[in-house]
Amino acid sequence: MTQDELKKQVAQAALQYIDGETIIGVGTGSTVNFFIDMLADYKGKIKAAASSSDATTERLKGVGIPVIELNSVDEIGVYVDGADEVDTNKKLIKGGGGALTREKIIAAASKKFVCIVDSTKSVDVLGAFPLPVEVIPMSRNYVANELEKLGGRPVWRKDYYTDNGCEILDVHGLKIVDPVKLETIINGITGVVTNGLFAARDADVVLVGNGDKVDTIK
Ligand code: A5P
Repeated sequence: MTQDELKKQVAQAALQYIDGETIIGVGTGSTVNFFIDMLADYKGKIKAAASSSDATTERLKGVGIPVIELNSVDEIGVYVDGADEVDTNKKLIKGGGGALTREKIIAAASKKFVCIVDSTKSVDVLGAFPLPVEVIPMSRNYVANELEKLGGRPVWRKDYYTDNGCEILDVHGLKIVDPVKLETIINGITGVVTNGLFAARDADVVLVGNGDKVDTIK
């Protein structure tokens, strides 16, 4: 199977988790795009979705799923999103597509977070994928220096702005043995909006598309 076929396979497997849900949360990225396209068959059953990015909002509207403001609901039943890396404890690196902050907010507000990945995203230790850190633009240089003190090599994602009007530093060279601790430390640096470690609020279920089958990590 190609990587796109694996993404489609795992997107399909996520549909069982939205049965009976009326309001869902939807992440961002190429894997989730397959899931969104499949939501065309759920028009009417899914009343609305909370969206993690402008790109996802456009795509949801395109298949006829209304988008709601997260502020208008107290809780989301299920949040479906992809990841850039997943370890065996369901801790994630996200934000390759730059939507990490809105994704983290919706994950926090959701009862269940279902993460969908193809098998190329599974790792033993997080960090081979550069960790995205969203920063307030004027703090970029200061935050980069602080990240270097933590042993990382931050690279500015030049000419890129998030949907929140912020910038991103991609931190290379980290071997993340304690993701919860590092997530907390980086979020404590002044100027950081959030970082792409989803460890304190990790996934509840990870579905991994392997081709032969979809593995479920709970
Ligand atoms: C978006 O900012 C990311 O967090 C995505 O969820 C992640 O990068 C996975 O994207 P793909 O499904 O495109 O690999």
